[in-house]
Amino acid sequence: MIETEKLQPIAAGAASQLCIEPACGSRFGVNERLYVCPRCGGLLDVALKVQAGQDVGRPEQLRALWTRRLASFDARDRSGVWRYRELLPFPDDAPVVTLAEGNTPVYDAPVSATYCGLDALKLKHQGCNPTGSFKDTGMTAAVTQAVILGARTVVCASTGNTAASLAAYAARAHLQCAILVPRGQISHNKLAQSLDYGAAVLELDGNFDDAMRVIRELAEDESIYLVNSINPFRIEGQKTVAAELLHQRGWRVPDHVVVPGGNLGNSSAFGKGFRELKELGLIERLPRLSVIQAEGASPFAHLFASDSDDLVPTEHPQTLATAIKIGAPVSWKKALRAVVESTGTVLSVTEQEIADAKAIIGRDGVGCEPASATTVAGIKRLVADGIIGPDEDVVAVLTGHILKDTDYAINYHQDKLYTHDRAPDKTKEERRLAGTYGNPPARVKATKEAILEGLRRHEQGHPGD
Ligand code: F0G
Repeated sequence: MIETEKLQPIAAGAASQLCIEPACGSRFGVNERLYVCPRCGGLLDVALKVQAGQDVGRPEQLRALWTRRLASFDARDRSGVWRYRELLPFPDDAPVVTLAEGNTPVYDAPVSATYCGLDALKLKHQGCNPTGSFKDTGMTAAVTQAVILGARTVVCASTGNTAASLAAYAARAHLQCAILVPRGQISHNKLAQSLDYGAAVLELDGNFDDAMRVIRELAEDESIYLVNSINPFRIEGQKTVAAELLHQRGWRVPDHVVVPGGNLGNSSAFGKGFRELKELGLIERLPRLSVIQAEGASPFAHLFASDSDDLVPTEHPQTLATAIKIGAPVSWKKALRAVVESTGTVLSVTEQEIADAKAIIGRDGVGCEPASATTVAGIKRLVADGIIGPDEDVVAVLTGHILKDTDYAINYHQDKLYTHDRAPDKTKEERRLAGTYGNPPARVKATKEAILEGLRRHEQGHPGD
């Protein structure tokens, strides 16, 4: 029998906050309320001083422990984040705030695979989290840290999903919650969630980047805790998806993992997660991590394609994938590190490519929001460009649920989806995206014949005629 009882969580003393700037590298305690390095302004990582086989146990012990927890009804074991708590910088008696997040499925997607030119494709659907996006895996950790620090108010700037997630976890923890969203630029579905969970919803005249700037000033107040992905504890929670994905695959490392890119917290978290699994001996190599952005909001893709060492923000980012309508991504340095060390890539895709990929994913019986579909659109390009081979093992990460943006889906299927007004000289018709794989509803009379005729037309591919 494997000795799993002796495994210890990482004690708070075994972790620190570390400035990622090589010229600085300052360390701070995990219970210091920081978002960036107070010495140089650099981003912070939570650094775990763990060594395989010593602090957290040998790889086979950890694997067996995590598998045993799948059969447990303990709230921490049911969570797809806290199940992997040996990887987290929290004491064993941490006041965990959980909604049983994580535990998201990995689907086979044959229709999407064919569309991309692949033999097979897997979709890790993070939209199946409690509030419908991957943000919950980070929020459980960040709100737990807020409770530990004694914060009274938690805040974030958001394009909608972080807000919905924070609102839910703050409600669970009985904390006051304020969210800052760009007015008129987030989906109604996400707004509805935040209202229902009781958050103070502050609609800002400006875009996400403006909201992010203001909220950082606000968080200088001691009683207010900022939980955007600049917060390193958010990243700690989100990184566990790497462990869950590998666990679900019997620890077989995929060749490629492809994620959408907005503020670049998610790609940073995947990178950290895979790197730590490798350091602990749980995997032998890193999957290649690639990031896909929407063309109108793609400063990271531009940076990657250039010789520059510095990201040039996009001043007026535009995309119908509102979740990733971000011009000045906060975590680009961490994301760049993750892409480079795993020999991945970064590219951008058009609005039409996103819209069509989303409809194709739907044909696999898997719904996602527009930002998530950048992955399948990007993979199709990478296969066409010979960067991904047709027989390679590829995982696309879907970040949000189809019901996160229903207006977009309905408009696409009815040929009424129009791009942003980036080029105001264009006519409305020129801004229309083609409903290439559209599936409009058909109006029928209440007779058996009319319904059978409707079915026949749908089968022939003219459902709306
Ligand atoms: N996909 C979805 C559905 C998102 O909501 C986001 C980000 C991303 C991808 C990009 O992830 O920012 O970590 O690179 N949404 C944030 C929000 C910005 O406020 O909800 P990222």
